[in-house]
Amino acid sequence: LDTGIFHIGPHFQTDSQADFYSVLSDFLPHKLSRFHPSISGSEATEVAIKSCMHKTGAKKFIGFTGGYHGRTFGALSVSGEKGKNANLGPFSPKCEIIAFPQSKDCINDSILSLDEEPLAGVIIEPIQATAGLRFVNENALRELRAYTKSNNIPLIFDETFTGFFRTGKMFCFEHYNLVPDILVFGKALSAGFPAGLVVSTEEILGQWQKGVQSSTFQLGPIAAAASRSFLSKLKNDNLVKNAKKQNLTFKKELNNLTVTGKLVDVRGIGSFWVLEFDSQETNMKVRKQALDNGLITWECGERGECLGLVPPLNTDIRIIEKACRIIKKSVSEVLQL
Ligand SMILES: Cc1ncc(COP(=O)(O)O)c(C=O)c1O
Repeated sequence: LDTGIFHIGPHFQTDSQADFYSVLSDFLPHKLSRFHPSISGSEATEVAIKSCMHKTGAKKFIGFTGGYHGRTFGALSVSGEKGKNANLGPFSPKCEIIAFPQSKDCINDSILSLDEEPLAGVIIEPIQATAGLRFVNENALRELRAYTKSNNIPLIFDETFTGFFRTGKMFCFEHYNLVPDILVFGKALSAGFPAGLVVSTEEILGQWQKGVQSSTFQLGPIAAAASRSFLSKLKNDNLVKNAKKQNLTFKKELNNLTVTGKLVDVRGIGSFWVLEFDSQETNMKVRKQALDNGLITWECGERGECLGLVPPLNTDIRIIEKACRIIKKSVSEVLQL
């Protein structure tokens, strides 16, 4: 970076990239030792899909209802949540969207109903974000891991949203005590610089032939330096401590909201909290009221029925407290509680 050369294209590696991969390795299970950079979460999904197809020779994927993996065509294909692009199909690669397993039985039923076509891979957000913070059933995830392992089907966890401490652990797979074959990262990965990354095994990514995948700006030197600096902040600063305090503050402040009628649920994990309403209309009213009261919120949920709170991990606790006060005030103003 001292040379002032900020771009070198995909054919060369700089020290800042090598350094970043090396530090990231310390956070990852030993078997996930291979990296392939990209410019975004969507492109990382494309890379993950291609790596599965090259590895298995198969062409069909399994995705889940509510799953969101990006807006490029391959990513759309494997996303249950296609939004306004749903009518652009047929999509490629072929993908069967099955019910997001919030109970154990539901995954067994889905697996039993699959046809004979060989699978290239299965892609899941174990904690769905855009669908409004929905949690996979832990036993179902284990069943899915067992099924994919015994059939040599790569299992992809898309951690574009959940990675890097958003859910109170470095990676969301750590909540389940199992390791996927492929991880997809983006967003927080590079602390605001555009970048994505696929992490996988020697067996899957190590065997790629040259030229199979490249992208001019894939995790360039500046993004790598930003990522590296973010990792050292996660390691050495009070960032993790602050994120834990954020979680406790949300819990304390939001858990006493009265869940009744139009406010269907309040749920959260780490620094990611959601208020689920009966409809998008109610949600819009509360979000508008919160905005008028000084707080920007995020719309999520399969029907736009969820208000999401996703603060930066370094947001001061006093701001989180203030945000929760605004939420409570706005909810009671709109719902007349
Ligand atoms: C889980 C998940 N995967 C993939 C993406 C796509 O990432 P990007 O917007 O960087 O292409 C997103 C973006 O919201 C996401 O939440």
